[in-house]
Amino acid sequence: MSAKRLLDQGLDEAVEALVEWSKSGKPALLISHYDADGITSASIMIKVLNDLAIPFHVKIVNQLDEPTLRRLEKLLERHEFLIFTDLGSGQRNLLSRYADKNILVVDHHQPIGGLADNVKAWIEVNPRLYDINGNTEACASTMSYLIARRLSSSNISLAPIAIVGALGDMQDCGEKGQLVGLNRRIVEEGVKSGYVSEEMSLRLFGLRSKPLVECIARTTNPYIPGLTGNERASYKFLKSIGIEPEVNGQLRMFSSLSKEEVRKLVTGLIKYMIDVGLSSKEAERIIGYVYLFPREKPESPLFDAREYSSLVNACGRLDKYGVAIAVCLGDREESLKEAIQVANMYRERLGRYIRLVVSGEIVEEYEGFYCIHGDIVGIEEKIIGTIASIAASATLLPKGKPVIALTRAEKEGFIKVSARLPRALNRKGIDLARALRFAAEKVGGAGGGHEVAAGAQIPIERKREFLELLGESLYNAK
Ligand code: C5P
Ligand code: C5P
Repeated sequence: MSAKRLLDQGLDEAVEALVEWSKSGKPALLISHYDADGITSASIMIKVLNDLAIPFHVKIVNQLDEPTLRRLEKLLERHEFLIFTDLGSGQRNLLSRYADKNILVVDHHQPIGGLADNVKAWIEVNPRLYDINGNTEACASTMSYLIARRLSSSNISLAPIAIVGALGDMQDCGEKGQLVGLNRRIVEEGVKSGYVSEEMSLRLFGLRSKPLVECIARTTNPYIPGLTGNERASYKFLKSIGIEPEVNGQLRMFSSLSKEEVRKLVTGLIKYMIDVGLSSKEAERIIGYVYLFPREKPESPLFDAREYSSLVNACGRLDKYGVAIAVCLGDREESLKEAIQVANMYRERLGRYIRLVVSGEIVEEYEGFYCIHGDIVGIEEKIIGTIASIAASATLLPKGKPVIALTRAEKEGFIKVSARLPRALNRKGIDLARALRFAAEKVGGAGGGHEVAAGAQIPIERKREFLELLGESLYNAK
C-alpha cells in the first residue's frame, strides 16, 4: 500500500478508536513528554478529547521508563484507555504489559521492539511507519494535529500549536529554516485559513514583541558571538552601524526602523558575524523563514512561532506544564502572564549557567572532550541538555571537542549525562550514542540517542570511571 494510503489509514484508525471510546463514557489517561513537542501534542489531544466529551487525566513525564510507570501505577490501573504523545514508540516492550487496555501512541521517535502477541487494541500513529522522516518532516504535534483535523475541519485552528511543536523539535531544516514535509502541509492549511503566515525575514528573537537591543541579545539561533546574551554590546553594535537604539529614553522597536535602517541592520549583522569568524553561510542564517500567527497581538510573545515555542519549552523545563497547556489551549490572561514570568526566570537561569561555562568554573578539559560539571552548581536535569547544546553549537569553549555535560538526576543516586557534538565534528567518525551507551552500560547505567546528540544515566559513584571509559570509546570506532 502507498505511504499516503497507510498514513490515511493510521489516522482513520485513531479517529475511530477515539470516537468509539467516547461512547463508553469512561475516562482516558494521556501521558506526554515535557518538551515543547510533548506539551503541544498533548494540548492538541486534550482539545480532541474535549471535542468528544471524553473525560481525561493528563500526566507529563521526563521519559517513559520502568520507574515512571511504577510511579504512575495506580493511574494506569484505573484507566482502560491510554494515550501516549511524543513517546511510546520506543517503549513497545514496556507498554506490552498493558495488553488488556486500549492504547493509542502518537509519536515520531524510532519504533523499537515488537509488541507482545496478546496486545489487541494498539494503534500507533508515527510518520516513520509511513516512510515519512520523523526527524525533519513531522513530529508528535504534527501527527496529533492530523488526527484532530480528521475529526473536525474546525480544528484547523490548532495549526499554530502544531507548528510550535515542530519548531520546538527543530524541524525547520529546509532552506532558510523552512518547515518541510507534513509540517509544510500544516503551514499551507494554516496560511489558507488565516491562522498562519510565513515570511522571509530577519531571524532575531522576539523581533515584533521586544525592543531591538533585546532582540539581538536574545538571539541564540544563530548565535551571535559577542552580542548574544549581552544587551550593552548589542546597544553599542547598533550605534556602530548608525542606528540609534533609543529615542527620548525609549528603546526602539524593529517596527520603528526606516527602510534604510533595516537595510543597515541586515548588512551590519552579516558583516559583523563574518568579521568575528563565522562563515558567510552561517552569517546568512540571520535571514530566513519566520512563522507568524496573525490572530495573536503583534506585540505578544505568541505572535512569532519560535518565540511561542521558547515560552512553552521554558514552562516544560521548569515543571510548569499546566501553564503551558493552558496557553496552548487559548488562555491569554493569567496563564500567559505566568508563562512569560516562567520564561524570564528560565532565561536568567540559563544565562547564569552559561556564564559559569564561559568562565570555565564548571568545565574540565579532558584530552578528547570537555566535561561540564553541572552537579557542582545544581543545574536541573531538564536544563543540562540545553546547556550542552548551547555550549557545543555556540563554540563557547575554545577548542572544537565533544561536550559532555552532567548533573544530578532527579532519580536518587544517579547522574544525568547529555552529550553534544559541535557541528564541525559531524561525520568525523564520532558516534556519541554508541560511546555513551558503551561507557554507561560498563558502569551499570544506560545511554543512547543520536550520533550528534546523546544522553545517559549512570550511578553517581561511578562518574570518574564513566568519564575515563568515554575518553576511550569516543575515538574507538566500533
Ligand atoms: O537528554 P538529552 O537531551 O541529552 O538526550 C539526547 C538524546 O539521547 C535523546 O535522543 C534521548 O532520547 C537520548 N537518550 C537515550 N538514553 C538516555 C538518555 C538520552 O537514548 N538514557
Ligand atoms: O531525540 P530527542 O528528540 O530526544 O533529542 C533531544 C535533544 O537532542 C534535543 O536537545 C535536540 O536539540 C538534540 N538534537 C540535536 N541534533 C540532532 C537531534 C537532536 O542537537 N540532530
